[in-house]
Amino acid sequence: MNMERQLLNKAYKRIKDYEDLVNQDIFRQEYHIQPPVGFLNDPNGFIQFNGEYHIFYQFNPFYPEEKTVFWGHVKSKDLTNWQSMPLALSPANWYETHGCYSGSAIDNEGKLTLMYTGNVKDEKGNRETYQCLAESTNGIEFTKYPNNPVISHQPQGYTPHFRDPKLWKKDNLCYMVIGAQSIDKQGKIILYKSPDLKNWTMIGEVAGSNIGVLGNFGYMWECPNLFNIDDKDVLIACPQGLEPEGMLYNNLYQCGYMVGKLNYKTGFLDHNGFIELDRGFDFYAPQITVDDKNRILLMSWMGMPGEEHPSEKYHWVHCLTLPRELKLVNGKIHQIPVDELKALRKDEIAYENIIIENEEISLEGIEGIKFDLEILLEGISAEDFGIKMRCSENGDEYTLISFNLPSKTILVDRNNSGQGLKGVRKCKLNSDVFKIQIFSDNSSLEIFINHGEEVFTQRIYPDVSSKDIKLYSCNGITRIKSIKKWNI
Ligand code: FRU
Repeated sequence: MNMERQLLNKAYKRIKDYEDLVNQDIFRQEYHIQPPVGFLNDPNGFIQFNGEYHIFYQFNPFYPEEKTVFWGHVKSKDLTNWQSMPLALSPANWYETHGCYSGSAIDNEGKLTLMYTGNVKDEKGNRETYQCLAESTNGIEFTKYPNNPVISHQPQGYTPHFRDPKLWKKDNLCYMVIGAQSIDKQGKIILYKSPDLKNWTMIGEVAGSNIGVLGNFGYMWECPNLFNIDDKDVLIACPQGLEPEGMLYNNLYQCGYMVGKLNYKTGFLDHNGFIELDRGFDFYAPQITVDDKNRILLMSWMGMPGEEHPSEKYHWVHCLTLPRELKLVNGKIHQIPVDELKALRKDEIAYENIIIENEEISLEGIEGIKFDLEILLEGISAEDFGIKMRCSENGDEYTLISFNLPSKTILVDRNNSGQGLKGVRKCKLNSDVFKIQIFSDNSSLEIFINHGEEVFTQRIYPDVSSKDIKLYSCNGITRIKSIKKWNI
């Protein structure tokens, strides 16, 4: 039996052997993409191909015993109902022995073509990275390019931390940005071009630590995305090695974006600075695609490397975020849940004109675990307005979202959320809060402030009986125009 078949058989056996155990977990998600067993991390190869959306993900079915990284695969007609597909890539060849690492997809003359990083470690643990191609005519079975790798070495002056190619087409050429580390241990993103996806030429550095307006900014930059929106070029990247600065950079690794103009001759992105894309605890390595409606769509890993989660007892961990549409508003990226998600809404419960004054209230029917909640605010004159989600009956367990008017600071506090990691994440708003939309699933909250001006994304692990929602106002009045909840 060939290597690929052996690996696939072993993976499918693992999925089957653990299916019952995985499904016993109360923290299994209802409407998010999650692995059938084992470890999921980055979304890969996000694309609309022949009218269907495909997304792949970094998938190690054997976690925690072994690390063998495949590409899992799901597809959907509507970005909402996802169908599980056969594993797309398995690490069967010499150039990917330690994993088919992250990469992206492109429609190359009717072939769904993937470019990804083959990760290899020798007996001493030294790393080598190879950039590889695989393609499919039906979008289901993928064949690796026989002359892989198409880039067999990182450029001179860089270390083998060279990975995560993200492709796009422009004027009959293919371009690619890739995460890199210079030999003086500075994180960088590099731009390449190719006429045919096989022969690649380096153009130059796009952005990174000690480039342009940025000073020291991390020892490695991973998982880049580059796209054009409203005549601006936006680079999303994930720097590793930033120290926390007050409200900023409090996760282990960061994910943010830079808005500017890309010079396709030199590779340089002239931008004004790095802005965190999401303010929550669990958001890393997102990937974008542009669909036939010209929307910039994003899905992200709802996780962070190196953190433990209660679901590991059931042999699975992590999920992807909901798909979001990106908009550029006054130089800032806003993330808006895609319109298609409205199709999931059922059992509407709505209230209008509610006034909360120095009190904590709950509203009949506004409670639950799996829902889409939308709060429109008329005005806050209270010092603090807060929402407690997934609240226990005795009030001890809850996840807090609160807005402090004098400092225009919004925070998410999961110190009392139940099992799992704790902490607080905060950010400042430019205006008051006028809209809060929250998607709650069995073990996550995605919180969209003011049409996605700021987003807090995180996993939480409360008790199944913690279902209440409470709203409060301290030192003053909060006027709510409407509050609507739909079960999902
Ligand atoms: C980001 C990352 C990528 C890499 C992949 C491996 O989470 O480290 O840089 O390709 O995960 O699974």
